[in-house]
Amino acid sequence: MAKFIIAKDHNQVGEIGAQIISDQIKLKPASVLGLATGSTPIPLYQHLVRLYQQGVLDFAAVKSFNLDEYAGLSADHPQSYHAFMDENLFSRINIAKENIHILDGLAQDPEQQCQSFEEEIKKAGGIDLQLLGIGNNDHIGFNEPASVFICDTHVVDLTDSTREANRRFFSSLEEVPTQALTMGIRTIMAARKILLILNGQNKAAAIEKAFLNVIDPQVPVSILQLHPDVTVVGDEAALGGLKKQAPSLFASS
Ligand code: F6R
Repeated sequence: MAKFIIAKDHNQVGEIGAQIISDQIKLKPASVLGLATGSTPIPLYQHLVRLYQQGVLDFAAVKSFNLDEYAGLSADHPQSYHAFMDENLFSRINIAKENIHILDGLAQDPEQQCQSFEEEIKKAGGIDLQLLGIGNNDHIGFNEPASVFICDTHVVDLTDSTREANRRFFSSLEEVPTQALTMGIRTIMAARKILLILNGQNKAAAIEKAFLNVIDPQVPVSILQLHPDVTVVGDEAALGGLKKQAPSLFASS
């Protein structure tokens, strides 16, 4: 059963999340981390950078795999997830460049790119800890609501609601890519641990649907009900409603 932790605000979501990742790296310095982008993990990455600067954390042996990347954006496009990760984390810590894996949005053969990404994850020994955010439409990675759970890393058409949610990073809706490359549901579920972070009232309905209802590919995040080691860290605005409706979910936290 997932463990739920309520933090006092977005910054504390990041602090607690960073502590969980830090514990993972201390336990296994050559950890394989699955990483996420978006607004939610920014404070978490700030706390990881602080721990690194304080000499508490060493990323020299860490390997990373990012959840997703927009199709059609080059690595140096300011809104690419390559650029996001570089700005918020990688340029500020001592992770080795060759240990960073992010899908290439400009791959000539995207299907082949997805396959070799899966192979790289296997070669690394699988993901020890996967960080996730949650979309307003219940996506994880860019696994959008669908009629079936799509298993492996794949190319996906982004829904209008996701493009609308992400337009804040672009100057117009037209500039938001229509496709992305994303880890699949099986890729995510194969991670040994999952850390899902969220904040704000606009994520409350999504997390409630995820854990109060049956597992449904129209609610991709609901698959996490089947994962044996999930920790959810969110603020009161995001998790308060879930706690009210299902206090037993919070009994162990
Ligand atoms: C990001 C990702 C997405 C986001 C989700 C929430 O790599 O895979 O699933 O985690 O869209 O985004 P924010 O944090 O911006 O609300």
